[in-house]
Amino acid sequence: MPEKEKLLDKIEEIAKNRGFFWPSQEIYGGVSGFYEYGPLGALLKKHIQDMILDYYVMQEGCLAIEAPVLTSISPWIASGHVESFADRMTECEKCGEPYRADHIIEEKTGKGAEGKSMAEMDAILKENNIRCPKCKGVLGKVYDYNMMFRTFIGPGKNKIEGALRPETAQTTYMPFRRLYEIARRKMPFGVIQIGKSFRNEISPRKALIRQREFTQAEIQFFTPPALDEWKNFDEIAGMEAEALVKGSEKTVKMKFSDLVSKKHAKQPIAYFLARSLELFRKMGMDMKKLRLRQHRDDERSFYSSDTWDVEFLSDKYGVVELVGIADRTDYDLKRHQEQSKQSMEVTFDGKKFIPNVIEVAYGIDRPVICIMESVMKEEKERLFFSFPAAISPYQVAVFPLVRKDNLPVKARYIFDLLRKRYYTAYDETGSIGRMYYRQDEAGTPLCITVDYDTLEDGTVTIRERDTQKQIRVHEDVLIDSIQRIFDGEGIESVGNAA
Ligand code: GAP
Repeated sequence: MPEKEKLLDKIEEIAKNRGFFWPSQEIYGGVSGFYEYGPLGALLKKHIQDMILDYYVMQEGCLAIEAPVLTSISPWIASGHVESFADRMTECEKCGEPYRADHIIEEKTGKGAEGKSMAEMDAILKENNIRCPKCKGVLGKVYDYNMMFRTFIGPGKNKIEGALRPETAQTTYMPFRRLYEIARRKMPFGVIQIGKSFRNEISPRKALIRQREFTQAEIQFFTPPALDEWKNFDEIAGMEAEALVKGSEKTVKMKFSDLVSKKHAKQPIAYFLARSLELFRKMGMDMKKLRLRQHRDDERSFYSSDTWDVEFLSDKYGVVELVGIADRTDYDLKRHQEQSKQSMEVTFDGKKFIPNVIEVAYGIDRPVICIMESVMKEEKERLFFSFPAAISPYQVAVFPLVRKDNLPVKARYIFDLLRKRYYTAYDETGSIGRMYYRQDEAGTPLCITVDYDTLEDGTVTIRERDTQKQIRVHEDVLIDSIQRIFDGEGIESVGNAA
């Protein structure tokens, strides 16, 4: 097995042992599809989330909102989820094990089956004699299994039917009228919502990649109908990406300007595909493993007229959809207008219409694991995560060389200085080698060591995770030096070699 593959084989074990993430409710045997983030993973996830939030609020001028995850059933009747949010399922007639029909077909035949009808799937299962992988029993008829978690809200006669949201989107559409007023009746305008969504997946698997409770960062851009242009498109027009357009078998490198001029995608969709790639690059994702893929007509969600994904081609988990960008037309607002009897119409530029929506829907958990895969490295005895400073759980760690002679006091002073500015870890519980090793494992880009010279002349050592190079700088310029390194100046130009 090649080295990287061997390493990836251990990624979930490493994640568990180091405190990135682990299966939830372990003491009761766990429930599949639920994960917990540990002290490192919770920070990594937060930084990824913040990078997306900051980009859309600060650069794209989006409004940020937060809505409850539990709602009445009404919005989901309107949106079509009650009727159509289903995966095709089959169960073993002998042992009762449930399978997602397209997954088991793909596993056994190597051919995708998403979007095929129930009858077509039944036929494929029969023709290929696909049996239950657990007990070799016959698989039953394929049927639609709705993935909504449904419940009741309130007691007695006041009880109403409720559901956990399977996407944040509808909870952003419901307050559309309020948001339109807050946006000063301007169009297009964007609204970002980050929060949990819930899907009762048939076969949750691949750790964080297919869960029953997960975090989404979804941005809804409300636009006039048939908007083909996007204001800053020129800024990304020359960028290139690997793209698999519908109807084609082959991924080809394309400029975003070509994607649009050849009518594969509209400017708004192409623009946010490009911006998503930029965000993933800043997060440290391996860009060689990213591609854009346009949904085929037979797999596209019921609400969309065109959908593109950014996919990560994982060596361990296969194809992972990180973000979906969809033209949802006026489908959702129109349906809410019908169901709620509240008008969603606006008058803008002298025209009356129900706004259309361009949606950019990121999952947050999938990037966590794909970034970990991208930056995991092994060198000699050292296994480390080469996270960019902007998303590494801790950006800096401080420790005293030894736990005596007032070095911990001085180290704590430096720690207090740095923690005002950076996510800073402190350690004094081992040899210096051991403490470096622990921070490498956590992916901390810089370690600051306080030693006897610090007490004499006020200088400390900065050690860089990736190169293991060390420099000495005076404590008075420590923050400035750290910032220069984070801003891209080589460590050697920031201080004297230690
Ligand atoms: N509002 C549109 C929507 O929900 P989606 O493609 O179903 O679109 C958007 O979901 C993103 O949410 C996906 O690209 C993926 O990153 C994440 N996601 C979806 N289902 C997931 C699951 N079961 N576990 C983890 N992440 C998931």
